[in-house]
Amino acid sequence: EQIEKGGYEHFMLKEIFEQPKSVHDTMRGRLLVDEGVIKMAGIWDHVEKFKNANRIIIIACGTSWHAGLIGEYLIEEYARIPVEVEYASEFRYRNPIITDKDVVIAISQSGETADTMAALKLAKEKGAFIYGICNVVDSSIARITDAGSYTHAGPEIGVASTKAFTAQLTILTLIAFKLGKHNGNLGNAEFMSLIAELDAIPKKIEDVLNTTHELTQNIAKDFVKATNFLYLGRGYNYPAALEGALKLKEISYIHAEGYPAAEMKHGPIALIDENMPIVIIAPRKGHYDKIVSNVQEIKARKGKIIAVVNKGDRQVSEMADYVIEIPETSECFSPIVASVPLQLLAYYIAVYRGANVDQPRNLAKSVTVE
Ligand code: G6P
Repeated sequence: EQIEKGGYEHFMLKEIFEQPKSVHDTMRGRLLVDEGVIKMAGIWDHVEKFKNANRIIIIACGTSWHAGLIGEYLIEEYARIPVEVEYASEFRYRNPIITDKDVVIAISQSGETADTMAALKLAKEKGAFIYGICNVVDSSIARITDAGSYTHAGPEIGVASTKAFTAQLTILTLIAFKLGKHNGNLGNAEFMSLIAELDAIPKKIEDVLNTTHELTQNIAKDFVKATNFLYLGRGYNYPAALEGALKLKEISYIHAEGYPAAEMKHGPIALIDENMPIVIIAPRKGHYDKIVSNVQEIKARKGKIIAVVNKGDRQVSEMADYVIEIPETSECFSPIVASVPLQLLAYYIAVYRGANVDQPRNLAKSVTVE
């Protein structure tokens, strides 16, 4: 096992550090920047299905569901196809309206999650075209779907999903750009600039790993005794906040809640005092001014602010107690980059609390029963 961990203390840390490579592997052979092409046979062979779809319904559980939420932002923004995202466990029991004009995308790292599988079967029975985004090759979901794309992130052992999540985001980005280019909603110049930026994301992840590894350890030391955490973000980073919170609660057993920053005033703001740590994702592109005012509200209530900002940021950084810098990207890529220090932060808080990060209590890597 020590050999498999490749010198890292836990699989989770190894997998966090693998992300420059795993994201690159997800794009390998698909993203051809020089030719200005995204090659995805699964999409291309059925592109008319997607183009003519009434809507796309994304179903998933856990971390994969968070990826699905970001997929909704991506596909609606770039391909202008309506998207709904549902928990597989809710979808399967609520007698959903599905027709043969719907495309259902299931996202599942393991490809074995019972609820996701059952939801897919239901969608198939009702005539929808079903598409899989799985990491495990030849898994049950990969086999039942009409078509799909593998994430190719390599085996993920840590129960808390890290590299599979960023790989899912990468695939969803490729799908959104490919569909948008095909249906004319994404112009050539923008397409070319976005794919060039996507191609450089693995390098940015590597930079973030280098610049935040020690920093997140230091921050983690101050929060070992925390009992609650809030994670806030807006736009694409709202689901990134949900995922940041999930990582922390899964492995450290600290209660953590993710929220859209603007919704804070409808509830969580009541919880803020000097004992409440708040992670706020505030990159320059994406509702920055609005986030500044959210941070002011937190500051006024003495919340402990851990801000994830772009290099050179001033407004939010000046108010924050802890600052984690990430490189600037177009908004659509920021969840990939912002997730990395949040994974590290959760990891180190859990490690310092003496938790078993690779196998947290009560959780399973793949939930094959209801
Ligand atoms: C379990 C795992 C999570 C995962 C979820 C969905 O709860 O612990 O990490 O996100 O299942 O799994 P899937 O394999 O369908 O992505």
